[in-house]
Amino acid sequence: MTIKQFRVYAPASIANLGPGFDVFGVALDGLGDYIKVKRVSEPGVRIQIKGFEADHIPVLAQQNSAGAVMNAALDRIGDSVGVELEIEKGIPPGAGMGSSGASAAAAAVAAQKLMGFELPQRELVKLAAQGEAAVAGSAHADNVSASLFGGFILVGDGYDVVRMETPDIGFVVVVPDVKYENKTKMARELLPKTVGLKDAVRNIGFASRMAAAVAMKDPILFGKSMCDSMIEPHRAGMIPNFHLVKLAALQAGAYGCSISGGGPSVFAVGENPAEIGKAMVEAFGDTKSKIYLTRPSNLGTRLV
Ligand code: HSE
Repeated sequence: MTIKQFRVYAPASIANLGPGFDVFGVALDGLGDYIKVKRVSEPGVRIQIKGFEADHIPVLAQQNSAGAVMNAALDRIGDSVGVELEIEKGIPPGAGMGSSGASAAAAAVAAQKLMGFELPQRELVKLAAQGEAAVAGSAHADNVSASLFGGFILVGDGYDVVRMETPDIGFVVVVPDVKYENKTKMARELLPKTVGLKDAVRNIGFASRMAAAVAMKDPILFGKSMCDSMIEPHRAGMIPNFHLVKLAALQAGAYGCSISGGGPSVFAVGENPAEIGKAMVEAFGDTKSKIYLTRPSNLGTRLV
């Protein structure tokens, strides 16, 4: 290890995008986490957090997505050095915008830098996914891959990721003021162990159309493919007025609308995201909510 101190940025992301549970992800523009990384002689990983809801994010390395990744990397290096991570949260945690995934991605890229060599793509994804395993109890790689590589990603078996440039279209993410402990874990526990053939076929159809839309750079088909029969019905109940919010988005001109990752935020895409967002906020009724206007980004995690 020769580098002493540096800073990494990782973008927020939306996972699933409707039909692609644990497979699809897209990186977002203008929202992300920064991590300042400092190599120190005292062994172990120490974490400080500032920014969005910093007080609610664990600083114990094994309970923090970035810390868990760095722990795993230091084990791999087998070096008796330590690392200090100063995490600046630009992504609200627990909202469904890949907050833990972005911190994990930033830590994985930081670990590579500390190791002084680039890991094979699958190894890098697997390392970052350990951050999700630490905080969500499942090493899903959709958010971390989108954060790592930017663009639109498809996660395959064994952390094999295909990356494509995304179509450009307005996104709005509306985050309702509802909080769940261990949200992603809870949202995954809501899902059935098996799915019906009819629902699976419908999802395969929309997922295939979405991948085709990305390949053809067709933002309208991209948005219209955001339909999901397998996951959304089981998670809708964790979001107040979900069906009204979705209807409001579509009536305001959205091409598509679904739950953002594990929720409880809801995202929509269209040409008029500000108007769509306003309609969604109204449909949330008494539940306060916050709007994030963004676009997909083709840039992934990087040193800044
Ligand atoms: N694919 C994951 C899920 C994303 O929906 O549970 C959550 O971060």
